Amino acid sequence: MTATEGDNPMNLTGKTVLVTGGVTGVGEATARILARDVRRLFVHGVQPLHTVSDLLEELRGPGQATVEYFQADFTRLSEVSDLARRVRDAGGADILINNAVAPATNKRIVTSDGIEETLQVNYLAMVKLVTELHDVIRHRIVNVASETHQSADLNVDDLQLEHGYSAFDGYRRSKLAIVTFSQWVAGKLGETGSGIVTVCPGLTETPLLHDMFPGLHGQSPVEAAKNVLAGLDDALPNGAYLSSGRIKEPNPIATNPDTQTRLVEATNALLDQDIRDLVAKW
Ligand SMILES: NC(=O)c1ccc[n+]([C@@H]2O[C@H](COP(=O)([O-])OP(=O)(O)OC[C@H]3O[C@@H](n4cnc5c(N)ncnc54)[C@H](OP(=O)(O)O)[C@@H]3O)[C@@H](O)[C@H]2O)c1
Repeated sequence: MTATEGDNPMNLTGKTVLVTGGVTGVGEATARILARDVRRLFVHGVQPLHTVSDLLEELRGPGQATVEYFQADFTRLSEVSDLARRVRDAGGADILINNAVAPATNKRIVTSDGIEETLQVNYLAMVKLVTELHDVIRHRIVNVASETHQSADLNVDDLQLEHGYSAFDGYRRSKLAIVTFSQWVAGKLGETGSGIVTVCPGLTETPLLHDMFPGLHGQSPVEAAKNVLAGLDDALPNGAYLSSGRIKEPNPIATNPDTQTRLVEATNALLDQDIRDLVAKW
């Protein structure tokens, strides 16, 4: 896997970055590029430390970042909170890249928290991480979504797809929820505070693509990582949505204030906490 000079659109010298799902696919490629330029890299993964130790050694190559690994399985919300606590204890981060994604499953799975798995891993875990870390993320949050959100619907009364589930519907619904939440946060923040942007890296050769669309091929993870890192450009407006590195309008559902309010209310109920308060204190 190779990357060239200039893949990072902002000066990352001295910065600390947390990448979720950073040990495979697009997240791994993103971590590899970041490791050259940042001061500290927090890599999150679901696998035990010993299975990712070779990758971590590579990321810690000569002249590269200090790398710390945080294991957390987002199918357990307590582990998301634990991850937030450990990142906070480590001094927070300048940039949070929410990239982790559940494998596509044809059968609807409910987690031990009682929530549909794709919604929990892809969306709720991200919301929990953002709200629990909001005051220690100093610069930018990049949420990784997907162009599939453009064809999704957000039935807030059936967010967990109890009345009709498919792997693709679960995936694109979770991605629309990510874009809608990000638009809501950006609206609350206005021009102040840490910026939040959403990116689609584009169709990419990863386990996720092969699971969800067997036979379909895409770009390399390095190309996708560059599209994720395009979300770090300081010139981007708060709330920007980027598809393959270019600003694009998201699904209009995501920018509808009524849908945003209803999603936030449904999210509060699922997480049993009031995220409106946390953003107000941002
Ligand atoms: N690939 C594409 O064509 C494409 C297109 C558009 C958008 N995207 C987006 O790009 C991002 C990265 O996708 P990818 O294709 O690189 O997928 P991937 O190769 O499947 O990687 C997903 C990452 O999430 C982690 N993960 C899985 N289950 C988890 C759990 N329960 N708790 C915490 N982390 C978990 C995985 O860890 P393990 O590997 O250890 O299980 C892995 O590091 C996703 O947000 C995806 O929606 C991808």
